[in-house]
Amino acid sequence: MGWRAYHEATKHTVERLTAERRELDWAHMPAPFRHYEGAPLVDLPAEMGELDAEGERSGAEFLSRLFYYSAAVSATKIAQSGMRYALRVTPSSGNLHPTEFHFATRGLGEWPDGLYHYRASSHEAERRAAGEHWVKAVLETTLAPWSREARVVLVLNSIFWREAWKYRSRAYRYCCLDIGHAWEAVRRAAREMGCEVHAYGHFLDDKLRRLLNAEGGEQPMLIVALMGDGASGQGVKAETEWWGGEANVLSAETIAYPLIESVHRAASLRESIAPVRQAAEAAERAGDVRLPGAVQGGERYAAVARRRRSALDFQANAGPMPLAVLSAILQEALAGHGCDFEGDLSGMPSSRFVTLYLYVHAVEGLDRGVYRYAPRSHTLALLLAGDHRVAAAGLSLGQQLAGNCAVAFSMVADLERAAAAHGERAYRYVHFEAGAVGQRLYVAAERFGWQGTGIGAFYDDAVHHYLGLQPEQGQVVYHFALGRAVPDPRLSEPSTAAS
Ligand SMILES: Cc1cc2nc3c(=O)[nH]c(=O)nc-3n(C[C@H](O)[C@H](O)[C@H](O)COP(=O)(O)O)c2cc1C
Repeated sequence: MGWRAYHEATKHTVERLTAERRELDWAHMPAPFRHYEGAPLVDLPAEMGELDAEGERSGAEFLSRLFYYSAAVSATKIAQSGMRYALRVTPSSGNLHPTEFHFATRGLGEWPDGLYHYRASSHEAERRAAGEHWVKAVLETTLAPWSREARVVLVLNSIFWREAWKYRSRAYRYCCLDIGHAWEAVRRAAREMGCEVHAYGHFLDDKLRRLLNAEGGEQPMLIVALMGDGASGQGVKAETEWWGGEANVLSAETIAYPLIESVHRAASLRESIAPVRQAAEAAERAGDVRLPGAVQGGERYAAVARRRRSALDFQANAGPMPLAVLSAILQEALAGHGCDFEGDLSGMPSSRFVTLYLYVHAVEGLDRGVYRYAPRSHTLALLLAGDHRVAAAGLSLGQQLAGNCAVAFSMVADLERAAAAHGERAYRYVHFEAGAVGQRLYVAAERFGWQGTGIGAFYDDAVHHYLGLQPEQGQVVYHFALGRAVPDPRLSEPSTAAS
């Protein structure tokens, strides 16, 4: 099954939701943490220090900060039943966290070269293999020439079952969005420490899966290479040795979802990459709103990364968001990403696939209405004037937060243009991009004192109809909301310790 059929089959409609209603099978909920039992554990230092590009830092300190600010547990919630559960730096649909972080290192301070898995439950590294060839071996599964400067490469794997347990066939979309969030979190933390970051979506799946020997339903989705002097020292060379470890069993029973298996399989890699057509950004029209200069400053990434939480709902009467803040958030959210599925191969990072549509409910100096954002001219084109709070909530499956927020978003992906460039694999890429934009919206909002929530549940075709989009003009892939969060009584103090 190709992406078109999968996407159609997993659209939400009232009829489908009614027909599919059922209880969750709590007895088989997959464990949220993966362990490779038997692989030697390497401690990551708990002392964090500054997240900056300056200063001496050991390999262990570099890796510890990288994960502490991108993937670690960052808070706990206590449910009414008294059950405690962990929240992490990145958001995740249903808090189910399908993404696993594997990484290879080479010449990273005193850190021994090898292949590792990040154990998020205890902020440790599981050493699955020793040897200096792992970085090169991972990058050789891509179709790009391998970068000699890369000292760390991460492989982000998905466990589809973690999401499918709750969201069934639609879960593949959430897994891909989750990868986008994780990628952006890693990118940001690494860049704060002075690294250049480049992501590769084009790799030979089977070759990479065999190389990692990652078990328990993990599928490689994205490679993220870190270049630069993030840590000092020469690395510790080690003889090639394999421990691997045994993947823990996540639940006694796993249900297969043929639509997911099929759309994933269909995205087999083509050896050649066709040039990406330029994004056709609508021409600026008289009357478009030119956004003002972005507000300057805001809190530092390190101050907000672990504090970021998804708002359960927003305060409807909290007062409007200043236009200069919205301007800053939009600018930050849509800057280039640095990957092999962005850009038109002439080096211009101009062919992003996702367009933001805004439902403006409460922004100072901007009339209520539905707008389309044009990043190059930094302007908003008014599509529908008036109050769209009820519609925005209704389109997001009746979730009130999309009506109570200051601004709600539909992210619309140009899937046809993406598919013309990258074939079936494009389906992953547009979701990675939307997830990465979502992660930036969260962080940028938090930096300026606002909060966000990613919304994966929406009535697909009703959104297209409301926005007046023909199928060839794009498909909605993600919703988002920004505003002032209502306090969440279940949230205990954010964890500051590294475990
Ligand atoms: C892809 C994705 C889809 C989501 N969809 C919804 C949604 O439809 N409604 C909602 O209230 N929250 C949604 N969330 C937010 C999650 O519920 C939230 O991230 C999770 O409970 C963990 O909480 P945290 O973000 O505070 O760490 C979504 C998050 C992601 C990443």
